[in-house]
Amino acid sequence: MIHVVTGAQWGDEGKGKIVDLFSQKAHVIVRFHGGNNAGHTVINSFGSFPLHLVPCGVFTKKGISCITSGVVLDLDVLVAEITMLEKVLPNLRKKLIISPRCHVILPYHKLLDRLYEEAKGKSKTGTTGRGIGPVYADKVSYQGIRLNDFQDAHRLKEKLTIALSIKNKIIQAFGESVLDVDTIVKEQMALYKKIHDIVREPMSLLFDAYKKKKTILYEGAQGMFLDNDWGTYPFVTASSTVAGSITASSGIPAQYINRVTGVTKAYTTRVGSGPFPTELSDAVGEKLRAVGKEYGATTGRPRRCGWFDAELVRFASKVNGFTDLAITKIDVLDSFETIKICTGYTFKGKHVSYEELDAYSLAEVQGVYKEMKGWKKPLGDIKKYALLPKEAKAYLLELEKQTGAKIKTVSVGPNRNQTLYR
Ligand code: GDP
Ligand code: IMO
Ligand code: MG
Repeated sequence: MIHVVTGAQWGDEGKGKIVDLFSQKAHVIVRFHGGNNAGHTVINSFGSFPLHLVPCGVFTKKGISCITSGVVLDLDVLVAEITMLEKVLPNLRKKLIISPRCHVILPYHKLLDRLYEEAKGKSKTGTTGRGIGPVYADKVSYQGIRLNDFQDAHRLKEKLTIALSIKNKIIQAFGESVLDVDTIVKEQMALYKKIHDIVREPMSLLFDAYKKKKTILYEGAQGMFLDNDWGTYPFVTASSTVAGSITASSGIPAQYINRVTGVTKAYTTRVGSGPFPTELSDAVGEKLRAVGKEYGATTGRPRRCGWFDAELVRFASKVNGFTDLAITKIDVLDSFETIKICTGYTFKGKHVSYEELDAYSLAEVQGVYKEMKGWKKPLGDIKKYALLPKEAKAYLLELEKQTGAKIKTVSVGPNRNQTLYR
């Protein structure tokens, strides 16, 4: 059984919490795309962890965690994360496998990320600065360096020498200090040696698990509207964030997918630049940020906040094929007198859909809103869906009606046990 969990908005929907929760019943947990631009918060009996690369299912007793070929790795960050986790999970290395096909983020990728952003000035994407765009660009233009290449120090040096013959020219032109091949080989090789024992292709393990009818849980990173094709380009990330991309990113046929859970907040947030039709640049938005503690798990940047946008989640449901939704952070709305839902957009008085818009026209649309009554009660201690206040149930039913996707999970707080099932 293959169960994919993906973000239905602009990332930070609470995927980490939901994956930690679902992983209790999973045999294999997979991070399949993105890199350490992701920050997935897990709060459980082991502590509180902002995971960037290691799958959030790593805390289960028996589950095997895999990082598959679609993920890009900053070895520094990976080694630090493994070292941090080994303090609470001494057997970590027995249950973590990393594909040798993963591309490696090198110092010049981070430098180029910054230079590209500086060149764009006011129209910058607002990246996490982790080198994500440049490393995927090298991957698709056959300039990338993979973990595989670390098996042969000569090959690694040769590839890096070629890469630097181009990158250093750009770096120099921008007045930055050029990079030295021997230093990079030495530093990266030292990091690789700390993980080489867990580098092997996880594909056959995934196929075996599937054949034995075990549960494989895929942990999406980022979210639908950061997808490189279907998001608000160029205010997106470099990878494909949709459920169907598991084939390209892990070698498993898309038709094996049984369940796709879309994770969405009960409102909307976004970090970085780009259009955001329901953004609230007023006291209401500030209240959402303060109550929801909306600051990035990776960069600490304040997240932009706004009402729930049903047009977006409807579109996400279409492309991902959501079988169900997990609604998170509904408790953040506890003290609101009224709550709004954006049911669609108009432009110059006419109805328009996300599908026909680009990032620039999306910035021009007007939201059409439905106002709902708040429940004005704390939800954090509620243990059963049936015990939710009637206004909260009405809000959830409206989200379901507007998005066309079935809500099965409702999260009322950051902890594992603050979850209701329907
Ligand atoms: P991810 O990137 O999708 O995994 O999400 P992040 O971890 O970046 O951001 C989600 C934040 O919301 C984290 O700080 C979580 O601990 C927190 N969180 C998750 N679910 C809930 C919830 O239901 N209520 C509240 N108040 N916080 C939540
Ligand atoms: P998780 O997995 C929220 C955003 C950045 C920027 C754009 C491109 O925690 O949900 P990049 O560094 O990828 O080149 O930046 O994408 N972004 C995220 N926003 N959550 C994330 O991950 C993100 N990963 C990238 O802010 O707007
Ligand atoms: Mg996050």
